[in-house]
Amino acid sequence: MPEHDLVVIGGGPGGYVAAIRAAELGLRAACIEKEPVLGGTCLRVGCIPSKAMLESSEKFYEAKHGYAEHGILLGEVKLQLDAMLARKNKIVDTLTGGIDGLFRKHKVTRYLGTGKLTGPGRVVVEAPATGNGNGPTEITAKHIIIATGSKPATLPGIELDGDRVGTSTEALSYDKVPKHLVVIGGGYIGLELGSVWNRLGSKVTVLEYLDRIFPGTDSELAREALEIFKKQGIEFRLGSKVTAARAAKDHCIVECAGQEPIKCDRVLVAVGRMPYTTGLGLESVGVTVDNKGRIPVADHYRTTAEGVYAIGDVIAGPMLAHKAEYEGTACVEQIVTGYGRVNYDAIPAVIFTEPEIAAVGKTEDQLKEEQIPYRKGTFAFKFNGRAMTLANTLGKAKVLAHAETDRVLGVHIMGPHAGDIIAEATAAMTFGATSEDIARVVHAHPTLPETLKEAAIAASRRAK
Ligand code: NAI
Repeated sequence: MPEHDLVVIGGGPGGYVAAIRAAELGLRAACIEKEPVLGGTCLRVGCIPSKAMLESSEKFYEAKHGYAEHGILLGEVKLQLDAMLARKNKIVDTLTGGIDGLFRKHKVTRYLGTGKLTGPGRVVVEAPATGNGNGPTEITAKHIIIATGSKPATLPGIELDGDRVGTSTEALSYDKVPKHLVVIGGGYIGLELGSVWNRLGSKVTVLEYLDRIFPGTDSELAREALEIFKKQGIEFRLGSKVTAARAAKDHCIVECAGQEPIKCDRVLVAVGRMPYTTGLGLESVGVTVDNKGRIPVADHYRTTAEGVYAIGDVIAGPMLAHKAEYEGTACVEQIVTGYGRVNYDAIPAVIFTEPEIAAVGKTEDQLKEEQIPYRKGTFAFKFNGRAMTLANTLGKAKVLAHAETDRVLGVHIMGPHAGDIIAEATAAMTFGATSEDIARVVHAHPTLPETLKEAAIAASRRAK
């Protein structure tokens, strides 16, 4: 029976990072992954392919609409969707293949199959249905990390057919531009993938249950983003409770309470994700999930079972690849060195729409709710020289600092490269910076992060 010091179940950003870190720290590490390809949702059917499609569709849209103002006139711009999809697939293949390489380099043993706990320190690897795995194999390990991630959630009445009524997985690979795409859910996935197909020529209708998009994000920026997306041609029906969706012969039907049924040719269901614990054998080690299906963990990701840990989407917190990755590292470092932690006050989040939206720390809504006294400084990209030269001036940066200590509590940015600029705010918050600290950092001119600096100045000057 193969013996390891540490086994990770799940080869996504949480799992593969944990396995490699364990090997680096001298443990005999293994990783069990049921898919033939490593990388999890993020690399295979999530972050990476969606960003590839966002970039390509943005280029297409720009070529059609964005060059004339630079004095560049193009001829007819044509879409070659199969080439666009092939580029995306190539990026995925390169990155997922890279993890195989890293496993070899660090001597991480990789098991192909579904990992199932069978008792303390024991896991069975069941071969995938295709039969080319190396299981069932029973392996033992002193430490077992569950990093099985999440899967798309759905709603009662929705009949997913894995084709025309599908999730983000299908929406990353439509072989034709849908004439009319209905997106159920106005969150991260709905707006990122809705934007892709809107730019490529689909009519896109977003049905959102709440009276706003991007629940949980800063409501001021979400409101402004909604207006921008509407101008881009996306149709929104807020306050829509979807009761049914199904594929018919050559179209789909979506039903919402109190509305006429909508006929369309594709449906994207993007109503959140749920932890993936199916068939994991949690009962064999006495672990029970909470009411949201998540694995409860105490400090340092310990579950109620000795030697069993859980990280990433399968535990509480934002379902973000980088959160899982840092938890994987911290969990392993804690096991080996006795020290490893994640700063949960400074986890950035980025929505890769156009404009991008990025945030770290508390929203203004949260500060109000928690009655924390704060000062707010904002600065619009339309006053930033670099943004003007890029012809990309929508949005603003907003810095929220404690009214008495000036410590930065939250930063919210909508605009060009917001997802890159947020790194500075995250570093500042990680080091406990004040808004004056950010203001006094010398920023190169002319650059986009000057917008953050100006917002920090606006927040800090009010202190005096
Ligand atoms: P989400 O939680 O962002 O949005 C789901 C939306 O569906 C919400 O606005 C919700 O109110 C709405 N909804 C729920 N039930 C509904 C109903 N019956 N009818 C209409 N609307 C309904 O979840 P999403 O977009 O599916 O993304 C899943 C996860 O993946 C998120 O937790 C996100 O963190 C992560 N993700 C992160 C990305 C990034 O970091 N850029 C990109 C894509 C996903």
